[in-house]
Amino acid sequence: MKIPSSIWTLLIGILLTLVSLWYGQNHGLLPTAASDEASLVDGLFNTMMIVSTGIFLLVEGILIYSAIRYRRRAGDNADGPPVHGNVPLEILWTAIPAVIVIGISVYSFDVYNEMGGFNPHAVHEAPMTPQAMRMPGAAIAATLSDTPPSTGSDRNQERADEAMQDPATAAVRNADQIPQLREAPGTGLVSPTIGPTPDKEGKPPAFVVNVTGLQYAWIFTYPETGVTSGELHVPIGREVQLNMTANDVIHAFWVPEFRLKQDVIPGRQSEIRFTPSKEGDYALICAELCGPYHGAMRTQVVVQKPQELEQWIQEQLVASTEELKQAVAMNPTDLSPNEFLTPYTSQMGIHSEMLHQLHK
Ligand code: CUA
Repeated sequence: MKIPSSIWTLLIGILLTLVSLWYGQNHGLLPTAASDEASLVDGLFNTMMIVSTGIFLLVEGILIYSAIRYRRRAGDNADGPPVHGNVPLEILWTAIPAVIVIGISVYSFDVYNEMGGFNPHAVHEAPMTPQAMRMPGAAIAATLSDTPPSTGSDRNQERADEAMQDPATAAVRNADQIPQLREAPGTGLVSPTIGPTPDKEGKPPAFVVNVTGLQYAWIFTYPETGVTSGELHVPIGREVQLNMTANDVIHAFWVPEFRLKQDVIPGRQSEIRFTPSKEGDYALICAELCGPYHGAMRTQVVVQKPQELEQWIQEQLVASTEELKQAVAMNPTDLSPNEFLTPYTSQMGIHSEMLHQLHK
């Protein structure tokens, strides 16, 4: 019995679809998802993976099939048939990718919106300067300005001043040396933000950390407790807000497991909000080429239970007060340089004999 080619096409089509659907969700290319926002990005990535697996198999399949089926046989020296364009076919294979690309772009805009990337109040709250009034788009912003404002201001200078209220953050940031963007028209006035997600819009975040990027380190200050740390500790299941800026050049905050990335810019306050969903240690990577040691600018993000986080903060507080006591108790004038340096050098793995040798 000869199976008609239409049945073959149908069967191959079904098989191709099933394989693409399976592979699109079992590719294993992404690291663990450790934030609520990650599933949105993964959904988009998997959809693109399904589509591209299907197209790859279809195109490569036809190519390999044709190369074998229509190869030149021995003794066949005739010319190939003169084939001209096929207009309906060309329309079809232009239209299908166009529909796919438009669909993916609509989907990705939706994901960005679900993460709070289109927080519309960002533009409205900015006061209209005469220059901004003449900018195209000012009319749109003006008509939308009846929308109720959400939490806090988005003006760069106010954000910067707010962060500097915390002495620990003020000590880390050299904001006086970096002019803040005050009156730049349009988006320049506004802080780049990701989040809050529409369902959390208007609610204050549960946990706030100020982040400062500098060549080549990340410094985290916890404004509620005044703790300064080189590691980011965040609570699981609570919404975290990071207020970020840089002390020198542009850096970028990136935690692949959270599927989030945000620029950290000198003179600008950027913000990112997310909810960690999985306990563990993750790498925080600087994702902006910021100098020769850019590759070394990484640290850890620790997602932990709120009680453990509280305990860690207490430990940090104890450690910093002890350091302070030590510094106060030790009056340098009563001590020889060796005695004064001993507590520090032992921490660094340097022994007093080595110091003696240095003096000789
Ligand atoms: Cu900081 Cu790269």
